[in-house]
Amino acid sequence: MARILLGVTGGIAAYKALDLVRLAMAAGHSVRVIQTEDSQRFVGGASFAALTGAPVLVDQWERDPARGVFPGQPAPEHDPISHLELVRNADCFVIAPATANTIAKLAHGLADNLLTNAALAASCPIVLAPAMNHQMWESEATQSNLALLRKRSITIVDPESGSLASLNEWGNGRLAAVSTILQAIEQIVPAADRPWDGRRVLITAGGTREPIDAVRFVGNRSSGRMGFALAQAALARGAEVTVIAANVDLPRDPLVKYVDVETAAQLEAAAREHFVNCHLLLMAAAVADFTARSPEAGKLKKQGREQLEVTLTATTDVLAALAQERRPGQLLVGFAAEHGAQSVALGAKKLASKGVDAVVVNDVSDPEIGFSSESNAVTIVTADGHQEVEKADKLTIADTILSAVDALSSHETAPSRDRS
Ligand SMILES: Cc1cc2nc3c(=O)[nH]c(=O)nc-3n(C[C@H](O)[C@H](O)[C@H](O)COP(=O)(O)O)c2cc1C
Repeated sequence: MARILLGVTGGIAAYKALDLVRLAMAAGHSVRVIQTEDSQRFVGGASFAALTGAPVLVDQWERDPARGVFPGQPAPEHDPISHLELVRNADCFVIAPATANTIAKLAHGLADNLLTNAALAASCPIVLAPAMNHQMWESEATQSNLALLRKRSITIVDPESGSLASLNEWGNGRLAAVSTILQAIEQIVPAADRPWDGRRVLITAGGTREPIDAVRFVGNRSSGRMGFALAQAALARGAEVTVIAANVDLPRDPLVKYVDVETAAQLEAAAREHFVNCHLLLMAAAVADFTARSPEAGKLKKQGREQLEVTLTATTDVLAALAQERRPGQLLVGFAAEHGAQSVALGAKKLASKGVDAVVVNDVSDPEIGFSSESNAVTIVTADGHQEVEKADKLTIADTILSAVDALSSHETAPSRDRS
C-alpha cells in the first residue's frame, strides 16, 4: 500500500484521473488530489474529494483541512504548509494528466501554483502521464522539456496513439490507460496487496448481434461498460483478465486480453474455450435469447414485400451450460436485466435455475441506470439473500460485486443447487 499524491492539470483527459483514483484505491492505495486552477474547468474537486475521502487543494494559499496527511494517517498538531507536507507524506507524486504547460513549468523549475511548488519540493519519486493534442506532443518544446525531466529521473508514462479529443483528430497524445499508469507507479512504490494474484477471471461484455441478412441484425442496447468496469476492478485486485467483448466500442486496456465476437454462437464458442481455465466467470454480456433461423446471405430487398417475417430460434443458455461443466472451485456470476418490482424475485429464480453462485440484477425499467449509462444500481442475489447496491458509477459497482465474490469464495462450499 502506498500514499499517492495525484496532481491533475487542465487537459481534456482530466476526467480519466477519476478512474485512476478509483483504480489506485481499489488496489489498496491511499490517494490525495491536488489540482491546477485550469483543471477545474474539466473536473471539479468535489468528485475527487468524494472518491478519496480527503479534501482537494488547488490554491497554495488555502489551508488544508486535513493538515497535509493522507486518509488513515494521524494529523499533526500544527497547520503545515500544504505543498511541503503533502509531498513529505507521499510515497509518490503522480501528475496525470500532465499538460504541455505544466510539463514546461516543471522542466524549468517554475513554482507558481500549488502543484508546481509541490513538484519542486518533492523528494519522493515523480511520475508524469502527459496527455495533449498530437502536435503539442510532437513539438520540439514539449519533447525537449520531457528530455530534461527524464534526465532528472522523473518517470514519464508515454501517451498512446489513437483518436484524440478534437473532432476527427488521430495521433499520439492520448493519456495512457489508467492501469498502465498504476503499473508504472507500482514499479516505484510498494505494490498494494494483490489479493487476486494468480486468479484467472473471464468476463463477457457488450451485446450480441444476430444477423437477419448481410447488413441487418437483431441486437440490444448493451454498451459493454459494466463488463469493462468489472475487468478494471479485477485487474486492480491483481487478477489475470480475459474479456469476451461482443460489439463493444470502448477504450481497451493493454493489460486485459480481449476476444472479440459478434453473435451469440461466437460468444458461446469463445466462452467454452476460455471457461475451462478460469477461476471466476462474470457473465455481464447481454446475449441474444433468439437468433434468426436462416439469415439471408445477401441483402433482403424491400421491393414487392408488404411485410417480412423472420423466424427466430432459441440460442443456447451459455451461462447455464457452463454451470453444468464447472470444476470444483470455479465461481459463476450471472447478470440479469429485469423489468420492474419483481426483478429481485426473478434474479433469485435465475440463481437456482442456472446453477450459479450469484446473480447481479439491474432493473432496466429505470432509464437512469444500466445499459449505456455511466452509472448503475444493482441487487446482488446469492443463496444467502440479497444485497442492494445504491446507484454509483460502474467501477464502484464493479468493485462491490467483486467484494461479494470474495465473500462467496470465503464460504468455500461447493454450490449444491437445483440445476434442472
Ligand atoms: C478545451 C481545451 C482543452 C485542452 N486540452 C489540453 C490537453 O489535453 N493537454 C494540454 O496540454 N493542454 C490542453 N489545453 C490547454 C491547457 O488547458 C492550458 O495550457 C492551461 O494553461 C493548462 O494549465 P495547467 O497546466 O496549469 O493545468 C486545453 C485547453 C482547452 C481550452
